[in-house]
Amino acid sequence: MQNHPLPRLDETPELRAALLKHCRLQPGDVWQDPMGRHRVGCLDASYSEEVVRLMNGRSATLAIHDPPYNLAAFERRSVSEFVDWCCKWVSNTDSVLGPDASLYVWMGADQTEGFQPLPDFMVMMRETNFRPRSFITMRNQRGYGTQKNWMAVRQELLYYVKGSPAFNVEAEYTNIPKILRGYYKEVNGAVTENLERSKSENIRAGNVWVDIQQVFYRMEENVNGCYAQKPLKSCERIICASSNPGDVIIDFFAHSGSTLLAAEILGRCCVTTDIDPLYCEITIRRLERFRRTRKTGWQNSNPFASEIAQDPELRRFLTGEDTQKDVAPVTNRQQQPLQQQLLFT
Ligand SMILES: C[S@@+](CC[C@H](N)C(=O)[O-])C[C@H]1O[C@@H](n2cnc3c(N)ncnc32)[C@H](O)[C@@H]1O
Repeated sequence: MQNHPLPRLDETPELRAALLKHCRLQPGDVWQDPMGRHRVGCLDASYSEEVVRLMNGRSATLAIHDPPYNLAAFERRSVSEFVDWCCKWVSNTDSVLGPDASLYVWMGADQTEGFQPLPDFMVMMRETNFRPRSFITMRNQRGYGTQKNWMAVRQELLYYVKGSPAFNVEAEYTNIPKILRGYYKEVNGAVTENLERSKSENIRAGNVWVDIQQVFYRMEENVNGCYAQKPLKSCERIICASSNPGDVIIDFFAHSGSTLLAAEILGRCCVTTDIDPLYCEITIRRLERFRRTRKTGWQNSNPFASEIAQDPELRRFLTGEDTQKDVAPVTNRQQQPLQQQLLFT
């Protein structure tokens, strides 16, 4: 089957329209995993009644949320409107988490606009039932380049808890060996070096994660068509640290379904939602494909490859190829972003 990499699906209205008819969820629908573990809703996370329906009576021990950050990928709002919106889904999260639970939120800071919305979100969180535990930075390998400033390579992750949830410290260890010697300390009368005292030969991730590869097109886990995919390794670290096998995890902004897939791999149940039927479909297909093939994404392919192979209209959107003589070719303006994408393969 020929490879047709997908462009960002939120920015290509014609392609979106053509793909929507292949999505099994409509707004308001919920998909129940036939194996009884996960649920995927096409629901708005800020509506409490929709979240209650999504949960279907289940309560969760961990929430991992990655909302749109009030930047380009989102219908732009004022900072206070954005924070009011966040307040709603945080409150919905609180109501479906058990008494001892953890909440992780990825949140961006726009350095060209007062670093919004990260600090505004943090201040809002002080009025909730959640207590802050850590402020983690994950380092991206690539950033948006500039010759006049430090290259932006950080992603911020806020960690909150309510009650006293478990924290499994083994999850903190990276594959990076400890190389620093020194830091001598007397223990029971004997002077010991730090490597003798430590529990592992590897360093702990701490609150600056430098060991996680940002997802890019050559990785197996890459999902063509998604623009904000988090690495599975980051989901797995959070899940291992803050949940136990069999626990229910929620993610209100599914997108490529990374949290759901990590939950599947680690024996947890995931209840997730996305407001966009296209991303709900991708999330479900990613799980189904993993169960069939053990592949975690679509390197050299895409989630709608079989529909594209059968549908000349879809192929025409992606390649500009004139598959039907009586159909007018797409204009240069329409083709350009798609062809730019093809260059990256
Ligand atoms: C930054 S992406 C999440 C990325 C995800 N963590 C991943 O690894 O693929 C944000 C997602 O939130 C969805 N979204 C935006 N507003 C929403 C809402 N009110 N309720 C549910 N989902 C929403 C968008 O469609 C988008 O797919």
